[in-house]
Amino acid sequence: MEQLLSQIQQYKQEMLATKATNKDELEAFRIKYLGTKGLVKTIMGEMKNVAPEKKKEAGQLLNEFKIFAEELYAGMSAAIDNTTTVQVQTIDSSLPGDPLPLGGRHPISMVHNKIISIFQRLGFSVAEGPEIEDDWHNFTALNLPENHPARDMQDTFYISQNPDWLLRTHTSSVQIREMEKGVLPLRIICPGRVYRNETISARAHCFFHQVEGLYIAENVSFADLKQTLYFFVQEMFGDKVKIRFRPSYFPFTEPSAEMDISCLICGGEGCSVCKRTGWVEILGCGMVHPNVLENCNIDSKKYTGFAFGMGIERITMLLYQVKDLRLFSENDLRFLKQFTSAI
Ligand code: DAH
Repeated sequence: MEQLLSQIQQYKQEMLATKATNKDELEAFRIKYLGTKGLVKTIMGEMKNVAPEKKKEAGQLLNEFKIFAEELYAGMSAAIDNTTTVQVQTIDSSLPGDPLPLGGRHPISMVHNKIISIFQRLGFSVAEGPEIEDDWHNFTALNLPENHPARDMQDTFYISQNPDWLLRTHTSSVQIREMEKGVLPLRIICPGRVYRNETISARAHCFFHQVEGLYIAENVSFADLKQTLYFFVQEMFGDKVKIRFRPSYFPFTEPSAEMDISCLICGGEGCSVCKRTGWVEILGCGMVHPNVLENCNIDSKKYTGFAFGMGIERITMLLYQVKDLRLFSENDLRFLKQFTSAI
C-alpha cells in the first residue's frame, strides 16, 4: 500500500512536469499515461496485490489518480486548442493588403467611346436599336426588298420561331427606326453589335461592332459628308493621314462610296498591311437613297442626307496593328492588358 502511494506520487510529479505544448506532445502524454498500455492502467492492475482490508482505500486512491491524469490531459488539450484558435484569429491589420490588379477597358470599348466623342463634337447624338431585328428595318426599308441580290452581301442569321426576325447584320437598321420617328433634321450615330453567318477566322467573325452615321436635313450634300469624315479621320488617326473616296455600291445610298485612308504602317509607301497599295479601306458611305427616305415617310424632294457605316474592330486593328480579329472576343488578359491606358 505504502509502495502504491509513493508510486502514485511519483507519477503525479512526472505528469505535472510534462507540459504538452502541441498536439504531438499531447498525444505522447495520452499514450504514456492514459493509453490501453499506459501507466494508469498498469498501476490499476496493482489492485490485485493489495490486502483485502486495504482494497477500498486503494481503490479510492487509484480512482482519484485516474481522474487526476484525465483532468490534466483535458486541461492541456483545451490550452492547445485555444492557442490554435488564437493563432487563426491573429491578423496583423497593419500589414499592407494583397494588391488587386486594376481592370481596364476593352480596346473595342475604348475605340467605340472615342468614335462617339468625336461625332458628338460635331453635333451628332447617339441612337440605339434592337439586335434582334425584323426584315423591314434590316433590309426592305433600306431598299433591299426580298429576293434582292444585294442581300447576299450579308450572310444572315434568321430566327427559327419567326421567319420575319433575324439578328441585325448592320446598324443601318437603326437609321430606319430613327427616320420613322419623323423628327427632322436628324443627326445621329448608332453604335452597336451586329451578326453575320461567317466562318470565324483572323479576318471574319460571326459578331462584331459597327457605328452608323446619318445626317438628314435640307440641302445636305456630298461635300458635307466628305468634310465630316475628314474631321473624323484627323481626330482618330492624326492630321498626317490622307483620305480618298472610291465609287462603290450600297442599295441604301446613291451615289455610294468607300473611303480609304493612307496606310498607317508605311505612310502610303506600300507594305503588307495595305497590300502594297498605300491605302486601306475603313468605311462605306453615300447619299441616302430617295427610296429609303420615302420608305420612312420623308419627302425626298425637300430633304437629302448622307450616311456612313464603319466596323469598330477594323478601326481598332488599324490603330494598334492587331492582325487577328479573334483576339477581341477571346479576352486573353495578356492581350487586353496592353490596352489599359491606350487612349
Ligand atoms: N451597312 C453597311 C455594311 O454593313 C455599311 C454602310 C455602307 C453603311 C454605306 C452606310 C452606308 O450607312 O452609307 O456593310
